[in-house]
Amino acid sequence: MDKLIIKGGQRLEGSVTASGAKNAVLPILAATLLTDEKCCIENVPELRDVRTMVKILEGLGVNISFEDGIIEVEAGGFSGYQASYELVRTMRASICVLGPLLSRKGEASVSLPGGCIIGSRPIDLHLKGFRAMGAEIEVEHGYINAKADTLSGARIYLGGPSGSSVLATANVMLAAILAKGETYIESAACEPEILDLAEFLNKMGAKVEGAGTPMVKIEGVDKLCGATHSVIPDRIEAGTYLVAGVLTKGDVLVKNARVQDLGAVLNALDAIGAEIIYQPAGIRVKGRDVINPADITTLPYPGFPTDMQAQFMSLLSIANGVSVITEKVFPERFMQIGELNRMGADITLEGATAIIKGVEHLSGSEVMASDLRASAALVLAGLIADGETVISRVYHIDRGYERLVEKLKTLGARIERVQECKIL
Ligand code: UD1
Repeated sequence: MDKLIIKGGQRLEGSVTASGAKNAVLPILAATLLTDEKCCIENVPELRDVRTMVKILEGLGVNISFEDGIIEVEAGGFSGYQASYELVRTMRASICVLGPLLSRKGEASVSLPGGCIIGSRPIDLHLKGFRAMGAEIEVEHGYINAKADTLSGARIYLGGPSGSSVLATANVMLAAILAKGETYIESAACEPEILDLAEFLNKMGAKVEGAGTPMVKIEGVDKLCGATHSVIPDRIEAGTYLVAGVLTKGDVLVKNARVQDLGAVLNALDAIGAEIIYQPAGIRVKGRDVINPADITTLPYPGFPTDMQAQFMSLLSIANGVSVITEKVFPERFMQIGELNRMGADITLEGATAIIKGVEHLSGSEVMASDLRASAALVLAGLIADGETVISRVYHIDRGYERLVEKLKTLGARIERVQECKIL
C-alpha cells in the first residue's frame, strides 16, 4: 500500500486541467450495454472506479478497451447478467448496470453494495423505480435479483428523505430508454452528470427530455445505435484544486472548470473572501491572507455538493472565526474530523452539524485516509500544515483523483507518493 508524504507551507501557483468526471463516466459506461453497436467514450479519467466498471462490463461478456483516455465498447451479444460482490463492494456506482441489464436481458443479478464508510446508503429508490416499470425484484443472499419480461413506462417519484438520488435517477432512466411507452421521473436528480448521461443516450437515439431538471420524460424507443461522447469535466476534482489554491493563499487556474457546474462552490469561495476570476480557459482563484468563516449546508445539486464538504472543512479549519457545516445528504459523512483534529484543527460534531473553530495553523501528522473525499481533505490540510504530513491508505484517492500527485506538483506542492514499508 502506498502513502503520501507532503511537506506543507508551499503557496500553489499555476494551472491544472480538470479530468473527465468520474460520476459521469460510470453511468455512461453502463449505458453502453443498451446497444449492440460500438460506442466510443472520450475524456475518460484513469481512475480505479473506472477500471472497476470496465471489469464489470468485461465480466458480462462485453468487448471493451481503455487506452489514452478513450474507452471503446461493443456490447453486441454479451451474455452475462450478473455483477459480483467482489467488484460491487468496492464501488457503489456498479449498481447502475442493473437498469440496462434488466432492460436488455430481462434479468439482472447485482450484488447489494453493502455498507459504506460515509453512512447508510439505501437503494430503495432504485428498486421502487424498477418495480413501477413492472420488474419483479427479490433481495436474497446479498444479491438483488430482478426479472421483467417487458418493462413499461411509468410515472415514478424518486424523492427520498434526503432529496433526489443521483444514481437512482440514472438507473431508472437507463431502464426506461427501451421500455414500452413513456416514463416520467419526478423529483429527478438535477446533477450535471445526469444531464451528461442524457446527452449520451440521446446521441444513441434515445428520447430523453428535461434531464437536469426535476422532471424527466423518457419516451421508450425500440433500439439504440452506437455513439461517440466526450465526458464533461469533473466538477469535484476542479473544486478541490480551487480550494487548494485558496487554502495556500496561492493563485491557481483550473482549466476546463465549468462555472455552471460549480455555482454553490464558487459562492462559498466568494463568501470566505477568495478572489475568483473567470477566464476563457477555466476558473482562476487567488487566496487572500484572511479566510473568513462560513456557514455551509450540503444539498442535492444545485446546492452545495456533499462531495466538496470535507475539502471545505480543511479550508475553514484555518478561517478567522467559527464556521458551521451541516451535512444534509449523508448525515454521517464526517470521517475526516478525527484526522483533521489530530493535525491541530478544532472541530466538534453535533448530529449532522460540524462546528469548526478556526485555528492559526495545522501541524503535520501521520493520518489515515478513510474514503475518497475525506482523503482529499487530508491532502489539502497537509499542504498548509507545518512540517510533514504522512497519509496512509491512499488507494481511496485513486478511486477519484487522476494523477493527483503530478497535478499538485505542477502547482508547486511538495508531495511524494511512496510505497509503505512492509513489516517483515
Ligand atoms: C452519487 C455520487 C456521489 C455523491 C452522491 C450525492 C456517483 C457515482 N456517486 O452517489 O459521489 O456523493 O451522489 O451527491 O454519482 N438514497 C435513498 N434511497 C436510495 C438512494 C439514495 O434514500 O435508493 C439517499 C441516500 O442515502 C442519500 C441521498 O439519497 O441520503 C442521496 O444519495 P444518492 O444521490 O443516491 O447518492 P449516489 O447516487 O449513490
